[in-house]
Amino acid sequence: MQHKEEILLFLLVTQLILQSLAVISLENGGYKNIVVAIHKDVPEDEKLLMNLKELFTKASSYLNTTTNGQAYFKELIIAIPSTWENKPQYENVLKNYFSSADVRIDRPNPYHGNDPYTLQPGGCGEHGQYIHITPHFVKELRGVTADNYGPAERHIVHEWAHLRYGVFDEYGLPGDSNYPAFYLENGKIVPTSCIHGITGWIEAFDGGPCSISADGAVSEDCRFIPNIQNEDAKASVMYLPYIPSITGFCDHTAERLHNARAPTKHNTLCWNQPTWTVITRHSDFSKRTKRAVYIVTKPIFRLVRTQKGTGGRYVLVLDVSGSMGGEPIKLLHRAARRFIEDRVPDGDQLGIVAFGSKAEVLHNLTRISNITRSQLSKALPTRDSGGSTAIGQGLIKAVMVLKSQGELAEGGLIILITDGEENVKPLIHKILPLLVKEKVVVNAIAFGSDASAKLEPLTKATGGKGFFFADIRGKRQTNALDSAFLDSVTSQADLEFQPVQIADETIKLTSPITYKKIDLDKELGKNTVFTFTSKDIKNVDVVLKSPNGQIFNSSSSEYTKDTLNKLRIEIKLSESESGSWTVIIRRSGSTGVAVSNSVISEPKDPRIQPVRVRSWLSDVQLHYPAHAKVYAEVKKGYDAVVGAKVKAVIDRPLGSPVEVFLKDNGAGPDVSENDGIYSGFFTQFNGNGRYAVVANVINDGDAKLKIGSKASGALAVTKLKNLKDLEKKNATSTFRTSEFVLTNKTEKPAEPKGKPADVFERVSNAGAFRLDSFKANNEDIIPPSRVSDLSVLSSYELADKKFVTLKWTSPGDDLDVGNATSIDLRASVVAEDLLERFTELESFNKTSVVEGNLTPAPPGEVQVLSVEVPKIVWQKWNNSWQHIDVYFALRAVDDNNNEGNVSNIASGHFGKLQFPSYPVVMVKEAGITDWLPYIIGIGVAFLIAVILIFMLTIVYCKRRKSYKPAT
Ligand SMILES: *[C@@H]1O[C@H](CO)[C@@H](O)[C@H](O)[C@H]1NC(C)=O
Ligand SMILES: *[C@@H]1O[C@H](CO)[C@@H](O)[C@H](O)[C@H]1NC(C)=O
Ligand SMILES: *[C@@H]1O[C@H](CO)[C@@H](O)[C@H](O)[C@H]1NC(C)=O
Ligand SMILES: *[C@@H]1O[C@H](CO)[C@@H](O)[C@H](O)[C@H]1NC(C)=O
Repeated sequence: MQHKEEILLFLLVTQLILQSLAVISLENGGYKNIVVAIHKDVPEDEKLLMNLKELFTKASSYLNTTTNGQAYFKELIIAIPSTWENKPQYENVLKNYFSSADVRIDRPNPYHGNDPYTLQPGGCGEHGQYIHITPHFVKELRGVTADNYGPAERHIVHEWAHLRYGVFDEYGLPGDSNYPAFYLENGKIVPTSCIHGITGWIEAFDGGPCSISADGAVSEDCRFIPNIQNEDAKASVMYLPYIPSITGFCDHTAERLHNARAPTKHNTLCWNQPTWTVITRHSDFSKRTKRAVYIVTKPIFRLVRTQKGTGGRYVLVLDVSGSMGGEPIKLLHRAARRFIEDRVPDGDQLGIVAFGSKAEVLHNLTRISNITRSQLSKALPTRDSGGSTAIGQGLIKAVMVLKSQGELAEGGLIILITDGEENVKPLIHKILPLLVKEKVVVNAIAFGSDASAKLEPLTKATGGKGFFFADIRGKRQTNALDSAFLDSVTSQADLEFQPVQIADETIKLTSPITYKKIDLDKELGKNTVFTFTSKDIKNVDVVLKSPNGQIFNSSSSEYTKDTLNKLRIEIKLSESESGSWTVIIRRSGSTGVAVSNSVISEPKDPRIQPVRVRSWLSDVQLHYPAHAKVYAEVKKGYDAVVGAKVKAVIDRPLGSPVEVFLKDNGAGPDVSENDGIYSGFFTQFNGNGRYAVVANVINDGDAKLKIGSKASGALAVTKLKNLKDLEKKNATSTFRTSEFVLTNKTEKPAEPKGKPADVFERVSNAGAFRLDSFKANNEDIIPPSRVSDLSVLSSYELADKKFVTLKWTSPGDDLDVGNATSIDLRASVVAEDLLERFTELESFNKTSVVEGNLTPAPPGEVQVLSVEVPKIVWQKWNNSWQHIDVYFALRAVDDNNNEGNVSNIASGHFGKLQFPSYPVVMVKEAGITDWLPYIIGIGVAFLIAVILIFMLTIVYCKRRKSYKPAT
């Protein structure tokens, strides 16, 4: 059993180290191709560029220091927007860098203000999406920024570690119930930090003393102010990197000894491993054999500027080998024609390459206009060439097409569509270095289930995306190709101008008339296109009714129907009303007809952004046993949309698609609650091959718009308000409860939910992943997911017994699907025991349960459990004068005895806390009557004493608002 657990952990880890940001490369310890892009609305400012160079030069040196000379920034691309004047020192490039940049220089996300932060939706060891820095932060580098943040470059290294290595923050936040700013250890209050022993002072926001409640919870307005004069604090970059003496990450050395007990996000999500352990497991470090020490860490900066009027540049690379003969080539031709004639925006450039036994340029790169559209679509191949499959040659030709007008290939997108295995040299892996060097992105559409397994390495290495068109014989959705084309075009446009996809679905016309509602939100309405495709399009007619009752039908000028080549009806409205549209689809003839309907629209005013959905997969190559993670980000600008219904539909190699609901609840795969990023596991594999994933998002009335969105941020420097009084006190690393003022515990105000969001619906294509090594008819080998939000609601003593109430979000049988069978809860006074020898500890059984159940609740539900802590756990540590901390962790077990990974560690505290006014006995806060029968059993003298305490408690509880567990 222990063995199985190790295998699972191993699987998890190997999966993680295979991952890295695609396009950043590491050469001899130096990172290259890091893109720092300035948003086009940031006003032109030479100082910004100068300061960026200074910032990253210093950050490179600090990265070298903190990685013991193993890594630095070697080459950075600073991408200047087209809105800035051209300068001779800028390289002009036909590429929009911003939306794929590693570092974004953009106006603030309201949640974080000028604090740098990293969007880090993945789990431990998984890379983040981008670092966001504000222009103000950079421009004020030596001014306000230095005052507020200390050495700014250290925050860059902090963010870089989030982005590249997937480590998390090692500080707590005031008022955060999962990751509080202070915690109790041995009866002392300890500031949450990665190492013990960082000294400093505490004070309330107003400069007064901090307060504390009777159970040791420090009030929200209390802050720890580290003594930055102290030279002893050597770690950690993930804590408060501005402390001057910090030179690295936490590890196992005496100087930087990791504190596995602190309730940090890092400990919770990374199995209480030191940050340095997680970092060295990353392939950037683990794969290296020799350790180099760099003499120079100064990076080279490449200043590139996006040329004015830069649109997308695409080359279609189409498979016309023998296997494409018949229906497949017809399908491809029709979809490519719709793409060229209906979809590619005016001004973008397109070229066409076809390959069979050899590759051929069918059309050079051409700017799209109403004249060239038809020329290009005429060049599309209509028949297969009968030959073999020369994918590599096709890719080389595509790069040549991109470079043919003396331009760089950089910024070009190759859209490769193939149905088979390559069998003509040069092979894909030989071409890969060329593609990476030329910085072209390859999106690959696997056409049918026999398409080459080499597509995923290709898309991954070039930063592209993979798609899957499942059934080339036309049994399933025909819109998958259109969707892949649309997603490719969209990715090339400026973020604010990208069209929004409102609907994309296949409707079976079971009756002669089918009605459908489409909600168009008020920010949208420019270039709205309703498209209906069907192989029986001649038997289909469509009428649209606008919210005000205006009718669009076959006699409208906006309506076109092509029953010959494109097999589609299109209604294109340059301006359209917002509100509820009615789509009426009429079918003539009696046979069942399926119609694919897609609706896209653009924002009326790019300054007022609509809700946008972006979806992606944690990985594109999986080896069974495995799980996939699907993410969808729902935001309006930087504002998070919470409470939306998000569903991923996964098309599998066999049978019907499955649906997975994605959640933003901070449990299971979702690492941050209410940040607008919804996550879900997928485990229902049914064969080797590709799985295509599409996310559907709707607001059915519950969605709320928050101001800004929370991510992994850096903390500004906290300074003492009350200098005079406090500096007289010696700085310490732990605080006696007697230094605090005792207050009633205030019920934490619920996090503001935000204002109601308008009704909307969205579709986003997450792309496809490939699974291999699948074993059919397998027994259940997928364990429940790991609990990462275990917390102690209250701990209390009665007579000589200790009790604790625990809370967590319930996992499922297979990760978060189905009901798990049992909860394996264990405890120790030594936190490390739970990490190192969990299975050797005594498991809690039914007899310990006071309230609640050791049987898991349905997945996603919050479970509360009160248990007596068995004497064996704490007895030998018990002294009347001593405080005892008891640590808890659990795992769920399924019906096939698969054990989930061990949860985060939560702690309960027992013993008297000393307060200045009077000593307070820790008391249970609710449900004390449950214990009446037990209490009665105790001797009479003792009984009287207990009743006295009991009455006091009632009085006390009445005075304090009883604490309700949040749900
Ligand atoms: C990089 O770090 C190594 C190890 O800490 C150190 O010996 C070297 O001097 C550093 N290089 C620079 C340029 O700071
Ligand atoms: C594409 O351009 C190249 C050189 O500019 C030319 O030799 C070739 O014939 C063109 N190909 C097509 C299909 O127009
Ligand atoms: C192409 O567009 C121009 C200007 O937008 C228009 O004058 C012309 O008639 C269009 N040509 C065709 C063939 O549609
Ligand atoms: C501060 O520390 C010094 C040296 O350890 C000690 O002599 C002094 O009494 C301490 N002051 C207070 C207020 O604790």
